[in-house]
Amino acid sequence: MKELTIILEPTIKPVYLRIASAIRAAISNGQLKPNENLPSARRLAEQFEVNRHTVMAALQELIAQGWLESAERKGYQVAKFLPVEQSLDQSTKLAAQKSFIWKINNQLSFNASCKPAHEHRYNFSGGMPDISLFPFKEFKQCLSQSLARPKIEDFTYGKKEGTTDFLEQVGLYLRRVRSITNKKLIAVNGTQEALYLISQVLLKPGDCVAVESLGYRPAWQAFRTTGAKLVAMQQNSEGIDVQHLEKLISGRTVKLIYLTPLHQYPTTITLPLDKRMQIYALAAKYNVAIVEDDYDHEFHFNSQPLAPMAADDPQGLVIYLASFSKIMFPGCRIGCMAVDESLFTAMINYRSVINHKSNPLIQEAIAYWMKEGGFERHLRKMTKLYQRRRDFLIQQLKEYQNKGFELNYHIPAGGMAIWLDVGRSAKALEEFATTQGIFLQTEHQFHLEQENNQDRFIRLGFAGMSSEMLTEGLRIIFDFIRKR
Ligand SMILES: Cc1ncc(COP(=O)(O)O)c(C=O)c1O
Repeated sequence: MKELTIILEPTIKPVYLRIASAIRAAISNGQLKPNENLPSARRLAEQFEVNRHTVMAALQELIAQGWLESAERKGYQVAKFLPVEQSLDQSTKLAAQKSFIWKINNQLSFNASCKPAHEHRYNFSGGMPDISLFPFKEFKQCLSQSLARPKIEDFTYGKKEGTTDFLEQVGLYLRRVRSITNKKLIAVNGTQEALYLISQVLLKPGDCVAVESLGYRPAWQAFRTTGAKLVAMQQNSEGIDVQHLEKLISGRTVKLIYLTPLHQYPTTITLPLDKRMQIYALAAKYNVAIVEDDYDHEFHFNSQPLAPMAADDPQGLVIYLASFSKIMFPGCRIGCMAVDESLFTAMINYRSVINHKSNPLIQEAIAYWMKEGGFERHLRKMTKLYQRRRDFLIQQLKEYQNKGFELNYHIPAGGMAIWLDVGRSAKALEEFATTQGIFLQTEHQFHLEQENNQDRFIRLGFAGMSSEMLTEGLRIIFDFIRKR
């Protein structure tokens, strides 16, 4: 079977339409003739480095449009009579004619074959709040307040760290609920912007960043943009292995330690107090900063959560990150970075290069929401709901265990996900889940070093779905596990 020379047009999304468009272009430009057989879906999937189901979706699309036919035992063929040329849409024509070649210096690899989580019927994404329950009407009042009494200086290029009201309200909240004092606050467009700023301001090529061996890839990508190297801190069921960390730090130019101590991402384990203190002592001894990503502090069920490491930071070496993505919705793109005064100006100045400041309208609306009590009301309601959803998921898992499934997990004290050991074939389960409209992340996606992958764990988010949807999604998942 001949190899197709096909150019994928990266602006066409989703990926299956990009592939369909490229195959259609190959037919229009004569590379593929009527009645000619296509390479198998498996070969096309290898060639495009995508999942076979993505290729199948592209081929089905072309059948629907009349460009391909499928015949038993022959696979896919170009249709005998092609649709009239005029039916090509304008963008396809342009794509076929394009000859401009970009010289791209920075190509980050994301899993392009994956449909976004929200496009799946069952979304087990570990960090997805239930956005449908966000009080949009109430928040509309807050937004209109910020326009009704505009503070003109907030709407200029100035006040780069954030609006006065936002910083005041967030400052009060962090002081009261998380005991964070003695830090300067900066409004950021979510944790991701803060991670990028930290990387640009503090790292240079060849520096090392110690990250959790199972961890948060978007943070790694930000650190890597500077040419820094990532080194893995070993983890066990009680969190970070501190002795191993000391070996890492003492032998290298480690500049940062990146931690998710409250609900470790993705395992959900809470880093105990003694380990926090040992890690802090190591950081102080070797002059290494700690980035504490406290991405879902609000949702803690069993007791008061441990105070963040930033709350007890006599050296001022902890950079603390909080996000509104889980409290509100990820698209709100607002968060807060708390840094020592000595770092404040460098951060603000660097941010001016990329973005000047965070949007003052959303800051003012949030400040009003916090001041009027709506924010904490929403938190209380959602914390109770997520706790119920966690308990419901545990109950379901127990029922599956009673039916003979071998499952291992620890019940997370908070957060929005469970790290579930299903024994084997986690990646195959993930691939199967996609075909069933289920978004599921499994162990291989979280390892810094792939050789550590045991292919056993899945991360089941429980916050974003109703119990009916969760039950149905689990049924499909466990049907698959049963057959393996
Ligand atoms: C570990 C971790 N940090 C931070 C965030 C939030 O990032 P952002 O504020 O950029 O939306 C998430 C969201 O899923 C996360 O999982």
